[in-house]
Amino acid sequence: MERGGGAFAGTRLPFLLLLLLLPLPGLMLSGALWRPSAWHCSLSATCECEFLPDLTGLECELALSLVGQPLARQLVLQGLKSFVQDPEPAKPLVLSFHGSTGTGKTYLTSLLARHLFRTPYVHRFSPLIHFPHADHLQQYKDDLRNWIQGNLTRCSRSLFLFDEMDDLQPGLMDVVAPFLGSSWVVFGTNYRKAIFVFISNTGADQINRMALELWRDRRDREEISRRDLEASILEAISKDPQNGFWRSGILEQNLIDIFVPFLPLRQHHVKQCVVNEMAGQGLTPSPDVVDGVADSFSYFPEEEKIFSSTGCKTVSSRIPFFL
Ligand SMILES: *[C@@H]1O[C@H](CO)[C@@H](O)[C@H](O)[C@H]1NC(C)=O
Repeated sequence: MERGGGAFAGTRLPFLLLLLLLPLPGLMLSGALWRPSAWHCSLSATCECEFLPDLTGLECELALSLVGQPLARQLVLQGLKSFVQDPEPAKPLVLSFHGSTGTGKTYLTSLLARHLFRTPYVHRFSPLIHFPHADHLQQYKDDLRNWIQGNLTRCSRSLFLFDEMDDLQPGLMDVVAPFLGSSWVVFGTNYRKAIFVFISNTGADQINRMALELWRDRRDREEISRRDLEASILEAISKDPQNGFWRSGILEQNLIDIFVPFLPLRQHHVKQCVVNEMAGQGLTPSPDVVDGVADSFSYFPEEEKIFSSTGCKTVSSRIPFFL
């Protein structure tokens, strides 16, 4: 989904002029944002921190090691390419990953972090770790707003990851929504260069159902339509009042650029994961071990046993039992 931010693209120059014309005391008064690095970022527009995207490397590693997710791979690469090559993006890049457990969502975010930054300016938020208490919502909102703003001031190319959106307390995301659009003004910060990724299991049932229908029709899983998936993911999230997106404005204002579906994995994908994992550990994959590990997973639906219930999760902890 491409959305234009043309209306705001022209605001930069007058903004910079205004900044230069401001009397110095005014700058001092504006306080915390005016550390030297912020100066540097706002004036040079070259403040990319250690953002050194290696998209070729990413593409290569995705092809080799993100098992069974051609659609996710293609969507993320396309989105990143056009975003990274744009010196003046109209809004931050906002990706939302959906799919059941073990399908590679978190794995893909770790590859992103590794291939986009030399020193990662990566901020990962997890409900259980960062926002565990329901009654501290207001505090969490203030913290989160300050963290995002503070980190964007330090580095406009920051990557913010939000894990387990389905467990995130509704209300918290209200403070994130303004950072995702094209009209938020943070003095001295080009927040539009940031990347946000949301991860959730919401929509997994819908994705799995479509994959199963394709399989029953004997069609290729690559034929799965992005448009159909997107519509049903969106429907699943908007119907779930327990979800972190609930009434945050993020869906209502179409702030998510790309919904990235992760398809359920077949047994041959699990085998591929075992081979990759063993190779990564310096072990030589033998057919006995690979088949043994793959057979130890449970598969759904009950009668046909097509897809792994937990994707490739726990592959690494199962391997020792078959050596
Ligand atoms: C950046 O985010 C982290 C959380 O990931 C937070 O602890 C830190 O204080 C933030 N930095 C600034 C300058 O706000």
